[in-house]
Amino acid sequence: MSGDSTVTERQLPGWRPLRGHSISFVYSFHMRIGNLEIESPVRLAPMAGLTNAPFRLLAQECGSALNTSEEIDAVGLLRQTDRTEQIAGFHPDEKPLAMQLLGNDAEMLSEAAEILQERGADIIDINMGCPMPKITKNGKGSALMRDVEATAKILRRIRQSCQVPLTIKIRGGWDKHHLNAVEVAQMAVSEGVDAITVHPRTRSQRFAGRAPWEIIGDVVEAVDVPVTGNGDVTSYGMAEQMMAETGCVSVMIGRGALGQPWVFNREYESWDADRQRSYREATIARHVELILKFFPDVPFGLLQVKRHLSYYTRGMATARDCRRTLFTECDTPEEAWSTFRRFWEAA
Ligand SMILES: Cc1cc2nc3c(=O)[nH]c(=O)nc-3n(C[C@H](O)[C@H](O)[C@H](O)COP(=O)(O)O)c2cc1C
Repeated sequence: MSGDSTVTERQLPGWRPLRGHSISFVYSFHMRIGNLEIESPVRLAPMAGLTNAPFRLLAQECGSALNTSEEIDAVGLLRQTDRTEQIAGFHPDEKPLAMQLLGNDAEMLSEAAEILQERGADIIDINMGCPMPKITKNGKGSALMRDVEATAKILRRIRQSCQVPLTIKIRGGWDKHHLNAVEVAQMAVSEGVDAITVHPRTRSQRFAGRAPWEIIGDVVEAVDVPVTGNGDVTSYGMAEQMMAETGCVSVMIGRGALGQPWVFNREYESWDADRQRSYREATIARHVELILKFFPDVPFGLLQVKRHLSYYTRGMATARDCRRTLFTECDTPEEAWSTFRRFWEAA
């Protein structure tokens, strides 16, 4: 599945979705990853189960300039499992598109990279940061940071089969005794990697504590390829602060974009409350429309609608009630949509 823009549109009553909208980049920003020009410094981070095609396209429409797929297991891709095919799905309008691979076998990863390039990936990204035990116990994700020599061989093999830019996403290290982001970044650049994203927490920290941005600055100083910083950014202003403090040229926002994809619109914060509210409503309507267009099957599409509408309740006094009603009483996307709007308008 690579997205089908011909799917019949499901009409939902209420707010008019924000369509045909795109941000004009009024400021000058240039970042090149290999031969690709990236237009905005702030972009959506990959988040498994959440940043699928509809959310990525929405973030792009709000101003995120580079889409990154969720982690795609190389073995699953080679076996063409239904689950992996769904995860690897993208919309043809997602441009440029980085597709992220998860694995630890050089041959499989390079074969998987070739498949993704053929399908239209503009960048191949290797996940070297996933901290989940079920992933690291198989030597994948952040476990790749533990054996720098073995990982160098893996990157060398992928580089040989990859015509598009190759990037990696790393953590600060395995744990506080093994903070080797700089060593891993330098090794990766010497193997031909074109850009690096750093989420500076260690694998053992998972998401706890503050993200130590200093490590991003250390990587920036150590390599001569573009470095993207990541970790705890929840507004455009904070992204600019991260760039100023660390010297990174771009920022990825993950959890801070859930329920507020307008974070990618640099002008949003300068608008008055009425304009912000109508932009938020049009953006949420567009999100639901894109989910139903891309995932017309009710069980999965409905779950996605409920999950994302739940994030949009952030900050509402009745958020808990709204989420409970969404998950216990709504059997169709239309019910979920009208429930959400009822709570939103009463808030
Ligand atoms: C639910 C969830 C799923 C994630 N999935 C991925 C993934 O598939 N690939 C990846 O590189 N990082 C993944 N991450 C990590 C994020 O990309 C990001 O590095 C992390 O959330 C820190 O950034 P933030 O503070 O802006 O959220 C995930 C994070 C979350 C919360």
